[in-house]
Amino acid sequence: MTDVCVVGQGHIGLPTALTIAKSGLQVVGVDITAQLVEDLNKGINHLIEPGLSELLISCIDTNTYSASLTPETADTYIVSVPTPLDSDNQPVLDHVVAAAESIGPHIRRGNLVILESTVPPGTTRGAFTKALTNNSELTPEKDFFVAHCPERVLPGTILRELVENDRVVGGSSAHSSAAAAKFYRYFVTGDVIETDALTAELVKLSENIYRDVNIGLANELAIISEDLGANVWDVIELANKHPRVNIHQPGPGVGGYCIPVAPWMLSANLDELPPTIHQARRINAEQPARTVQQVLGLLEGTNSPKVAVLGAAYKGGVGDARATPTVEIVDLLIAAGATVAVHDPLTTNFKYPLESYEDTVRHADLAIILTAHTQFESLDPVTTAKLMKFPVIVDTRNSLPVTDWEQAGFKVVRLGVGTSK
Ligand SMILES: NC(=O)c1ccc[n+]([C@@H]2O[C@H](COP(=O)([O-])OP(=O)(O)OC[C@H]3O[C@@H](n4cnc5c(N)ncnc54)[C@H](O)[C@@H]3O)[C@@H](O)[C@H]2O)c1
Repeated sequence: MTDVCVVGQGHIGLPTALTIAKSGLQVVGVDITAQLVEDLNKGINHLIEPGLSELLISCIDTNTYSASLTPETADTYIVSVPTPLDSDNQPVLDHVVAAAESIGPHIRRGNLVILESTVPPGTTRGAFTKALTNNSELTPEKDFFVAHCPERVLPGTILRELVENDRVVGGSSAHSSAAAAKFYRYFVTGDVIETDALTAELVKLSENIYRDVNIGLANELAIISEDLGANVWDVIELANKHPRVNIHQPGPGVGGYCIPVAPWMLSANLDELPPTIHQARRINAEQPARTVQQVLGLLEGTNSPKVAVLGAAYKGGVGDARATPTVEIVDLLIAAGATVAVHDPLTTNFKYPLESYEDTVRHADLAIILTAHTQFESLDPVTTAKLMKFPVIVDTRNSLPVTDWEQAGFKVVRLGVGTSK
């Protein structure tokens, strides 16, 4: 008998399913991708996440987890499917609706259905609940419980954070909130806080929008610092010594499927995005083009330049290159006539071929660091200078020990650092 059915076995759904299985419940993980289901049942994990492969194998060995193409009857259902944006930045709920419709026929009286996907406000009680009842005779809140519990884990430490993070659970009714809170308290050691579904949806979006707006501020401070001849990294570090200030870091763009997506989740409910949120999104969305302008300025007069791009992942310490600003930056460089080679120590799946560090920088006219991987902090400037055609490096992540690189003959250009300093 299955206790929990987790629909969607991606970056969030698989670690969630395995964490619950580890806690002692019987779990089935459902996904529409046949190859993924087949591999998971063989103990083959596709995701780069510390501890996940070992946990999958152990749950397969103990028969606490199995993968399936279709949902099974269970006590609790969790939906963790993608909620992307369309080309007009409108949220697409097709996966959420399809997942809910696939669960509908299996729901029994007393069951709990939890939506973990990030969604526009009102989705849990609206489109999601409606889709659950499209193929079911039962009445939500009378016969079964529905809740939203957003996910806030950090890739790289997901398995620990799934257990230790505080969770906000918002039910469609007080009964649903209580049922969902009881479920999470079974395997979560952090606080499990009960609220309503709309508040939980807005909590998730607020967390990501806060970070997008904060990064937008950091990017504006970087532009101001460049103009004034200051060093934004010093400015932010010292400003953050204030006990109530936490300015984020600037960079070449904001990627991933969380932060840049969250502001647009509001557009399902509003005619237009609120001005502060919209302006920050615009600033962050312009960063890749702004970065390329800076690079092209440095390459002016160079015929058929080669650019060595260091970093494909959307952020440091992870291999995930989904919605990474590196794609737009490489696209724009190629469109401007440059040859581009890309290296990332953690990414395996990227739009462009990935090369070794040596092959990437070999004969390059300029190198640029786009991802804050710790591996880039200890690159050897002397070897790199010998491999490159010209020793010019742009550091958009404040990764390099600048003096060492300058001593090796490099011109080091840092995002947010004015030339007079
Ligand atoms: N990745 C993160 O770090 C993160 C963090 C917080 C919240 N979220 C949110 O969690 C949700 C899931 O994100 P993810 O990164 O795990 O996505 P993902 O793309 O890694 O995985 C989603 C999986 O769902 C499967 N799927 C799609 N439709 C399905 C259906 N109808 N039935 C069964 N399976 C289906 C896909 O095949 C895929 O394997 C999204 O709403 C995302 O915004 C993600």
